[in-house]
Amino acid sequence: MAPKSKVTSDGQRMDAGALRSRAPASGCSEVDWMGKIIIDTDLGDDIDDAFAIAYAVKSGLEIAGITTVFRNAHARAEMAAKLLRTLGRSDIPVHAGLDMPRRAPIIARANDRYEADGRFIPCQYDASMSGEPYAELSAVDYLIETIRREPDNVTVLLIGPETNMAAAIEKAPDVVGKVKEVVVMGGQFFGEPVPEWNILCDPEAAAIVFSSGIPIRAVGLDVTMQCRLSGDQLERLRMDSAETSTLLCSLMDRWFAHYRFETPVLHDPVSFGVLLVDYVDFVNQAVQVGTELDGDYGATKLQVGAHPVCLAKTVRQRAFLDDFIAVLCG
Ligand code: RIB
Ligand code: CA
Repeated sequence: MAPKSKVTSDGQRMDAGALRSRAPASGCSEVDWMGKIIIDTDLGDDIDDAFAIAYAVKSGLEIAGITTVFRNAHARAEMAAKLLRTLGRSDIPVHAGLDMPRRAPIIARANDRYEADGRFIPCQYDASMSGEPYAELSAVDYLIETIRREPDNVTVLLIGPETNMAAAIEKAPDVVGKVKEVVVMGGQFFGEPVPEWNILCDPEAAAIVFSSGIPIRAVGLDVTMQCRLSGDQLERLRMDSAETSTLLCSLMDRWFAHYRFETPVLHDPVSFGVLLVDYVDFVNQAVQVGTELDGDYGATKLQVGAHPVCLAKTVRQRAFLDDFIAVLCG
């Protein structure tokens, strides 16, 4: 495992202690490298999940497991297993979770692909991933068992719709008091409350998580949209001959071709990044997730009320981007 130290944007290597001392006193921005992380992901549609998993694994923080969610969690689990094998970390278990949101209509995107039986195929999935082994235990049961086994030691990073975590809370309400923290990529909290994809794909699940009382840090579009890889950074990744970089570039090219995007926005990596370095500043406020199908569905609105959570407001994107690419290509 890589040492728990970081190269900062000014080229200095800092250890965990030095980084902690840079963190503001507010618990929201705390950098705490103890404990384990479970990453719950909709890997396979947008490229940023694959980047986040590679960044997390290469960061040296302890990744306990990967759980998958949304539309075809099985295919996403096979993808995660291949990515972990390429990273040399097949020891990290992968668990497939729930395919379908509670109530939200599935939003079809241009060029969506389907199996003969009607199952959705993520755009980055290919035949080379078929049969990659993953664990039998469901993602929901894995979340419950891992959180119960190590109270106050497990952080869950949600970088897809929050369906699995909400199901874990409903099935085992005691996880609320036992999980250390949930870090969410989701929402848009400042300015117009525009629905963000992960929340919009299962607002009822997000409402359960946000109102649960679990300590939450939410990293929304307010900051993630500022974190785009530059042309030079993309070129550095393409020039890197490591097997993981080659795989990431081929997944990215498939995603570019499918959705006609040109620049990766690093929503999910910067959400993992808040566990690593104090790139992001937060404010503390309660959030209401809109669940009116004909109204505010999927919007995340600030409110005065119970269960305030930490909401990302500003980001030092240059420091994050430099660090991200250094870890990925390091
Ligand atoms: O809105 C951005 C989020 O939606 C990211 O997690 C991206 O990967 C997609 O899931
Ligand atoms: Ca995602």
